[in-house]
Amino acid sequence: MRAGPKRAITAEPLDFSDLGRPGWTRLQRFALEYVKVPKGHGARKPFKLRKWQLDIVKELYPSRGPRPRQGLVSMPRGNGKSGLAAVIALYALFADEEEGAQVLVVASDERQARIIFNACRRMIELDERLAEQVQIFQDRIYVPHTDSELRPLPAEPGALQGWDPSLVVVDELHVVTEAVYDAMLLAAGKRERSMLLAISTPGESTDSVMWRLVEHGRANTNDVSFKLVEYAAPEGCALDDEEAWKIANPALGDFLAVDAVRAQLRTTREPAFRRYRLGQWVGQVDRWLPWGAWEDLANPTRVVADREPVVLGFDGSASGDSTALVGCTVGPDPHVFVVGVWQNPGDVRWRVPRSDVDDAVAAAFDRYDVLELAADPWGWRSEIEAWAKRYGERRVLQWNTAAANRMAPATDRFYAAVTQSELSHDGNAVLATHLGNAVAKSTALGDLIHKDKRGSPRKIDAAVAAIVALDRAAFHSNKSARRRVRSFK
Ligand SMILES: Nc1ncnc2c1ncn2[C@@H]1O[C@H](COP(=O)(O)OP(=O)(O)O)[C@@H](O)[C@H]1O
Ligand SMILES: [Mg+2]
Repeated sequence: MRAGPKRAITAEPLDFSDLGRPGWTRLQRFALEYVKVPKGHGARKPFKLRKWQLDIVKELYPSRGPRPRQGLVSMPRGNGKSGLAAVIALYALFADEEEGAQVLVVASDERQARIIFNACRRMIELDERLAEQVQIFQDRIYVPHTDSELRPLPAEPGALQGWDPSLVVVDELHVVTEAVYDAMLLAAGKRERSMLLAISTPGESTDSVMWRLVEHGRANTNDVSFKLVEYAAPEGCALDDEEAWKIANPALGDFLAVDAVRAQLRTTREPAFRRYRLGQWVGQVDRWLPWGAWEDLANPTRVVADREPVVLGFDGSASGDSTALVGCTVGPDPHVFVVGVWQNPGDVRWRVPRSDVDDAVAAAFDRYDVLELAADPWGWRSEIEAWAKRYGERRVLQWNTAAANRMAPATDRFYAAVTQSELSHDGNAVLATHLGNAVAKSTALGDLIHKDKRGSPRKIDAAVAAIVALDRAAFHSNKSARRRVRSFK
């Protein structure tokens, strides 16, 4: 197909009258007769809407009665959301009997919006009859016979002003802000018949427009102007429950391969898997470690022997937070154990008992062969200097837990050791709680853990100390392994 504005359209207007009246059956027939799957599974074959896709389309394009003004389809990745959105956009452009149809495809960024735009364009290119009807521009597909157009737009309030859309399709609504959603609603409200259709995986946070709309949809199933179609696994299901996968992923075993999902289960953090693969809202409980994974590794009968080589991780606080001293054995089977945790019992005047902490450090150095004490210096510099004097500069290390380039790899190492059952621990309840309180944020350097919010009483200091301890134990264990290898020569 030649691109460009100059090409005149010589083909007669297409006659869609044998597709029936506007509505879901007409859309289904339009897809089957005019649209080909653009890529991937079934590429170039007629776009046959699956039964569950028809269920979605029926909600949006009922054969009789009014159409909803807003639609939201929430489902996991890889279930053909973008593909279905492209088909709906094409139907709205060509075949919905709308003079001067204007279809806007909106997404968080231009690139994402172009996914649907490019799919539409490719679908048109794959059908001679549609191709003859259109002029294709860089940022617009135009149908001169009906004066209809389709455009990709970025999700910015400014970019959304001045249009009069008959359909707005938003891909991946979860990243769209309240202001952008309002701008789209405002734009779409001008015609007698228009729809704002969002299609998305669940978001990262319940503090979002998408969550607000999901809650509205769940609570108002009779609202004819707003339709929610949600595919999600049952709340709290096991991660590897493949029956639950099927509930959330209607395309599973069809154009979504089950072994691809199995492979992802092994490499994806639980909250991300729940969101992207199970369609669930993990929201506030964006826990770092999978449920039960830490608890499963408890081995309280293992006693760390006197003079056993260990490292100690220390995360101290001046007042409000808690202070933790956690040990880890150095050797092939790392065992994490709590030496001491000092927590504010909820008294504003409480101060951490520094001399108790000092005594606990002394007792540990006395009892074990402490290869290293790695301590976060925040608020404890003078103690750390004293310990360095007492136990030797070589054995007392300042380990800044705010430095992402150290903390992120250490955090990833801890996560991997837990999920691959490569450590054991003493079953300490406070450490288990702190690990459960930790929420993770992905960074370019790896994951970092945080409290659920600033100032939260849900402490994580013992978790931080444990991460440091395991990281340093691995370092010393590798070092002694290297030494052993050398001595064999
Ligand atoms: N009936 C169908 N509906 C939608 N997509 C289909 C269908 N049959 C095959 N596919 C293909 O399945 C893949 C689904 O991917 P995509 O639409 O990007 O999913 P999502 O947006 O949900 O992540 C695409 O490559 C698409 O071409
Ligand atoms: Mg998509």
